[in-house]
Amino acid sequence: MTSTAREAAWNRLTSLAQRPGAAAIRSLFSRQPDRFEKFHWQGCDILLDLSKTAIDDDAMRALLGLAEAMEVMPARDAMAAGELVNNTENRAVLHMALRAPRAAGFRARKPDGGHEDVGGEVESTLAAMERFTRAVHSGEIRSATGEPFTDVINIGIGGSDLGPFMAARALWHEASPMRPLYLANADAHNWELIRPRLDPARTLVLIASKTFTTAETMANARLVRGWLEQTLGNEGMRQHLVALSTNHKATAEFGVPADRVFGFKDWVGGRFSLWSAIGLSIALGCGWDDFTRLLEGARAMDEHFLTAPAERNLPLLLALTTVWHVNGLGLDTHAILPYDHRLSRFPAHLQQLEMESLGKRTTRGGEPVRHLTGPVLFGEPGTNAQHSFMQLLHQGTTPVPADFVLIANPSHPYAANHRLLLANGLAQAEALLRGRDAEAVRAEMAAAGKTPEEIERLLPHRVFPGDRPSTTLVLPRLDAHTLGQLVALYEHKVFCLGALWDIDAFDQWGVELGKQLSTSILPELMPEGRVGPHDPSTTGLIQQLRAWQGL
Ligand code: F6P
Repeated sequence: MTSTAREAAWNRLTSLAQRPGAAAIRSLFSRQPDRFEKFHWQGCDILLDLSKTAIDDDAMRALLGLAEAMEVMPARDAMAAGELVNNTENRAVLHMALRAPRAAGFRARKPDGGHEDVGGEVESTLAAMERFTRAVHSGEIRSATGEPFTDVINIGIGGSDLGPFMAARALWHEASPMRPLYLANADAHNWELIRPRLDPARTLVLIASKTFTTAETMANARLVRGWLEQTLGNEGMRQHLVALSTNHKATAEFGVPADRVFGFKDWVGGRFSLWSAIGLSIALGCGWDDFTRLLEGARAMDEHFLTAPAERNLPLLLALTTVWHVNGLGLDTHAILPYDHRLSRFPAHLQQLEMESLGKRTTRGGEPVRHLTGPVLFGEPGTNAQHSFMQLLHQGTTPVPADFVLIANPSHPYAANHRLLLANGLAQAEALLRGRDAEAVRAEMAAAGKTPEEIERLLPHRVFPGDRPSTTLVLPRLDAHTLGQLVALYEHKVFCLGALWDIDAFDQWGVELGKQLSTSILPELMPEGRVGPHDPSTTGLIQQLRAWQGL
């Protein structure tokens, strides 16, 4: 498409969003009573309801027109064909290959122009992971002291922590084979919280790092290696180490035996890596069968994404809803509210997935972007969120679009609790939509016996504007298969947004500067260190920290 056609598609969308009353939702339901029927779709096992947004037929046409103008579907096909869609790093983006059968024929374009088949590599790594997982669970692989491994600790950060932690939290239950624990923060208080719960003689240690150079992960890996060595000696310690990495030279230098290194390739981005060797803690903690089902679920969503027409394509529809909110209505925050405690790490995973991918200000061609890009994302599981930040969503000055994730059937037997949970999730979305007008508040307060003066005084505080947008996703149950679908749905949403905003969703140059500066500040915090040239605030803070440390 020409840049003029793209410009026209953006203009059509923004002029629709600027119509008077364009953000109203309740009136859409009055005008179109079958709105739920028209604005909900199902892909795999997931139902997506967009009817509680202000997107009407015209807006949906404009959004789909924008997707066509921005060539989202051809971009999707280029990703699936292994083209170098991560153009600032000259890499293919093939997390879909990690969950596809070899026969799917995924190939990666090499920077020199040729292609490499990736299915064989994926298949052999999965086979090695399965052999290892089953051998640990059966007791064939034992600890240095001859005991079965009961705990597995994953040391990693960012994508080497958030995805596996989120999935293990969602899938682990009492009868699962091992206890998975996650150590990410460079702050050793994190280790101090975990350490007393572990016996070195029964703990398997996974060092998860794509690069095997990330400072926090390496610092924690050294800490835990020392802890193992104290009890097990050098040889024993090595029997407890496993590395999940692309950097085989560094894993060998660290002392990880070669047959305990599970690799992957640079076409797997960190925040898309839970399906790769980085997911080994999920398999060890929750069982190989669950890990396989997780991959199968993601594969099912991949097939939906690759084949469903645009107007029924769930990832694209989710992405277009974000474009409507961010670029149409100027709402640049987004809340994720899973009504299932097992999904309590899901918002944290999506924070990295969405904000590291979409926090960009330059187009793929190197120009400044002309539209807002990734919104600030935050979330908590319901019902906890209701007692923390939901007040702002109901009555704050700026609407915050929210995704509600509801699960029809729990895996516990407490039906009354589950009904309460679902009633709350549905009620929050309904309250955001309906609000509460002055008349209803007056009637309620009068019925409660309040005086007319008191009613008028409190009225403005108790009125809710309503018309606040939300999206609802409903899953029949939460298991490994549906979790795979859900996570892949958001991954593909992120891909679509990258294409719609014409940004590279797969690099993360912005996090580099902080890493470099921390390396130069580090020696200044040593006892003999000297405070170097900084801005006056940083210099003042370093001096105060040194003073309070008695340096
Ligand atoms: O935060 C930057 C980042 O590179 C993430 O993209 C990545 O997930 C994380 O650091 C960890 O990187 P690694 O797996 O190489 O340790």
